[in-house]
Amino acid sequence: MDKFLFGVATSATQIEGAYNKGGKGLSIWDEFSRKGLIQNGMTCFKACDSYNKVQEDLDLLKELGVNSYRFSISWPRIQPDGFGSVNKEGIDYYNKLIDGLIERNIKPMVTLFHWDMPVKLFEDGGFSNREIVERFEEYGKIVAENFGDRVELFSVMNEAEAVIDFMCLRPVGNGYAAMSKQQAFECLHNLLLCNAAATYSLRKYSKCKVKVGMVNTTRTLIPNEAKAEAAAYKAMFTCGDELFGNTTFWDPVFFGKYDERLVEKQNIDLSFVKDGDMEYIKCIPDFLGLNIYIGTNVELNALGEIVFSKPSPNATFGDMSGDYMNTAKAMYYGPKFMQKRYGKPVYVTENGCSLSECLIDGKVEDQIRTEYIRRYLAELIKAKCDGVDVRGYYVWTLMDNFEWSSGFTRRFGLVYVDFETCKRYPKNSFYQYKNLIGEYQNWI
Ligand code: FCB
Repeated sequence: MDKFLFGVATSATQIEGAYNKGGKGLSIWDEFSRKGLIQNGMTCFKACDSYNKVQEDLDLLKELGVNSYRFSISWPRIQPDGFGSVNKEGIDYYNKLIDGLIERNIKPMVTLFHWDMPVKLFEDGGFSNREIVERFEEYGKIVAENFGDRVELFSVMNEAEAVIDFMCLRPVGNGYAAMSKQQAFECLHNLLLCNAAATYSLRKYSKCKVKVGMVNTTRTLIPNEAKAEAAAYKAMFTCGDELFGNTTFWDPVFFGKYDERLVEKQNIDLSFVKDGDMEYIKCIPDFLGLNIYIGTNVELNALGEIVFSKPSPNATFGDMSGDYMNTAKAMYYGPKFMQKRYGKPVYVTENGCSLSECLIDGKVEDQIRTEYIRRYLAELIKAKCDGVDVRGYYVWTLMDNFEWSSGFTRRFGLVYVDFETCKRYPKNSFYQYKNLIGEYQNWI
């Protein structure tokens, strides 16, 4: 049995910077930045400058004691336009990173699409243009041929829900009109075809026996007592009142069909689906990548129906501790219920919290983050001990970084970053997570 993976996660746009260096093409986030669409006019151009600080960051990971690192490849860094020629300098950068990880006994988990689509593809219609499926097929092949001799764990998409949300329903880029639900669903369909296309390429062209998963947000219902468990499980997969639920993306990739209730409730006309599409989409991911930050506490009412328990206090902007501290059991029930329905091993690919905090004498005393991680991780380990096939856990995130349209206003890192100098300062939680890993590793 492979060792349990204790890791941290990042993504390219959020940390790399060097947005126009080393032959990189532009991504939509460079474009959104350039157009002033990020909070306070901030940009992702420099981010944490990880492109130039690979060795320093590798050493940080080593010091942290993780045995896995989840990061993403910037598509336009290795294929500037999203089609055609490959940028060797970009490949070299990721080779340096991957080799540095392996030298340090840290297993890479690589995401192919953490939202940074090459601008050219976006201009050609992004996910609304079905031709993008071929682009993903080719991108998967490039990744497999260059890195699939050393990387065993891949996921194609990060949070399909967020992608459809900010690219289709509530587009970040101005000048791009919001789509109807029907149009967004057609994009979702193309996105799932893309996911399958890149998955098949990774499996076909990698030298390693790779495992290719999918990563999605998890909406977890937390029963307050054992008696409520069966009803909570059922409710977690009774989706359709909103476009996004647990079945929206997972059902098609595992069962080769859309959740019928969802299609009916959202009034989606599926006539655009071509023969053979659903069989193709059904690529059966090798693992469930679950991003879990929070859950919803539920209980049974007198009629035996699931109702929400008293809501927890609202989190304030930049400080998630209020809401999030009370729902650590999401880490027990989320993996348990997801695995029960889909039957594959689980990696918790993201878990963490943002806090408003500051550097004092070179230190950040972020006890709340430590407590958050301690509680969530304990629940996950409990799930594992109770027989759920959980293989790994990744804290979001190694260091404070570019939090998409919120710019640098939300700090999620175990390491504080001074965004002027890009100097890194491990926070208290960095050392506490290191201790936790040390303790758990002895017996798990
Ligand atoms: C997730 C994203 C990740 C980061 C965290 C806070 O939804 O995958 O990039 O933004 O939220």
